[in-house]
Amino acid sequence: MSGYVVTGSASGMGAAVAERLRAAGRPVIGVDLHDVDVVADLGTPEGRSAAAEAVLEWSGGQLDGAVLAAGISPVPGPDRPRRIMQVNHLGTVELLAALRPALAATGAARAVVFGSNSATITPGVPRHVVRALLAGKVDRAARTLRLAGAVAPNIAYAASKSAVAEWARRAAVTPEWAGAGIRLNVLAPGPVATPLLDGERAHLSPAAAAAFRSLPVPVGGVGDPGDLAEWVMMMLSPAAAFLCGSVVVVDGGTEAWLRAGEWPRPVPLHRVPGWLLRFRAFARSR
Ligand code: NAI
Repeated sequence: MSGYVVTGSASGMGAAVAERLRAAGRPVIGVDLHDVDVVADLGTPEGRSAAAEAVLEWSGGQLDGAVLAAGISPVPGPDRPRRIMQVNHLGTVELLAALRPALAATGAARAVVFGSNSATITPGVPRHVVRALLAGKVDRAARTLRLAGAVAPNIAYAASKSAVAEWARRAAVTPEWAGAGIRLNVLAPGPVATPLLDGERAHLSPAAAAAFRSLPVPVGGVGDPGDLAEWVMMMLSPAAAFLCGSVVVVDGGTEAWLRAGEWPRPVPLHRVPGWLLRFRAFARSR
């Protein structure tokens, strides 16, 4: 049997995706900490292994799609930065890597991982923290963030989402993913009305609450989880055949407001591969 795995399916956007898939008659296996088919803590190696094993057994080694929505928010708490990075980064990329052969087995699978616009609108995220996460070194990343004080959970959250997006973009274009028919892409929402956002807002200090209110959202308000689930459904559909390694930002315009001039940008000359050399010569001639 083939079907779809959705992590974080007990709540919020993951639940909205699972509901839509089931309504469309697709078999779904949910992974979460509670109220789902596979109860597993994706923040631990044991939880990830158990989840991968259960999903592979359920699917008979063939998956049509994977949606990695499990995640936790940047609230204060002892060791919270480490936990954020374990769940949001390792809980996404290590599980997805373990499921890749089952996605490849169907020949036209889709995978959607949840990033966040936090990756691009949070200032001061050290590049070496993101690099440590990409190397799987959560403890090293967490040690660095001890210096960040009260904003350490926010930096850890943004770093985890940055690393997830970069990991997905690097993997998406390789023979193991694109070449195996898998379309791997990232959805990067802005604030969306889910229990995660409610929990985060409940913990904000008065100063942080004021900062949150001043976040520019040009269309106003916050996103609807059902609307975000529709974007995932599109990214799981046949229409995503030519979508590969993209970060789809759905954030009410915050990113465009803050960073309109920063993307799209031409590829830097030192990254230019051979077939583009004629453009390099052209750029130099001007
Ligand atoms: P949510 O809190 O409603 O749902 C997240 C689910 O993940 C929960 O059911 C939770 O139990 C599960 N989960 C948490 N830790 C887990 C673990 N260790 N193992 C297994 N499951 C675990 O949150 P929401 O808002 O639906 O978030 C979905 C994704 O979207 C998350 O990755 C989040 O970081 C991301 N996101 C959310 C935004 C928002 O404003 N709500 C904005 C941008 C990104």
